[in-house]
Amino acid sequence: MKGVILAGGSGSRLYPLTRITNKHLLPVYDKPMIFYPIETLVRAGVNDIMVVTGGNNAGDFLRLLGNGRDFGLKHINYAYQDGAGGIAEALSLTSDFVGNDSCVLVLGDNILEDDISPFLRNFAAQPSGARILLKEIPQREHLVHLGVPTIENGRVIRIDEKPRNPGSPYAVTGAYMYDANVFDIVNTLSPSARGELEITDVNNEYIRRGSMEYDVLPGFWGDAGESIDHYMTVINYVAAHWPRQRHPEAEE
Ligand code: DAU
Repeated sequence: MKGVILAGGSGSRLYPLTRITNKHLLPVYDKPMIFYPIETLVRAGVNDIMVVTGGNNAGDFLRLLGNGRDFGLKHINYAYQDGAGGIAEALSLTSDFVGNDSCVLVLGDNILEDDISPFLRNFAAQPSGARILLKEIPQREHLVHLGVPTIENGRVIRIDEKPRNPGSPYAVTGAYMYDANVFDIVNTLSPSARGELEITDVNNEYIRRGSMEYDVLPGFWGDAGESIDHYMTVINYVAAHWPRQRHPEAEE
């Protein structure tokens, strides 16, 4: 299974912090934001990873991550997205890298506490299709900024992107597992009202085909790019609950 991390986009919800740098290079407590999704994948045994980024700071990712030594990797693959045409567009840039394999996609601003290995195993046990990870979010006003599933008889029957009336108390988090059909599905998409190829449209196609499964995350999940308030919520949670990891090159 290949791992894909998306670190493009405009980051405009965090302006002016992101006016001169890429959102995923901003600190989340003691590490740059992009470290967290990479660690999520490596912890789950996914070592073949492509980072998709874009904009003026793309070169900074090479300087920061290099070949992935900080994560115990030998190599990291990179792709460049012109503009910010959406999550599904960014994913499509990895089609040669993923090939006929399956992939796990993690959005570069998503911070997950859980080890996702059990969910990857659940996905591996599926004959085909896709799998999403949901997180219960009690606050309705938060859900309206996210993708929200409607669930009937234990099946996701629809996902609405940023719904006015959320169909459940769950958010679709930015960790997705797909079989190799995902790239054919992306090729059929048209841009949404906000001008992007939406990952929610990809997921709805898998739902239509009857091959979308899900798990619910028990641990903390946060989208550090959603707003400055959520960025701070994530930082405060990580600072309070996660052990500080001293970098080997950090001075005492
Ligand atoms: O965080 C979970 C949410 O992520 C889901 O609940 C939504 O269904 C999903 O659409 C997405 O919503 P956002 O509005 O938060 O997506 P955002 O535009 O912030 O992009 C998410 C990540 O993808 C971010 O780390 C940057 C990257 N990205 C985004 C775009 C639009 C790219 O690499 N390229 C892009 O063109």
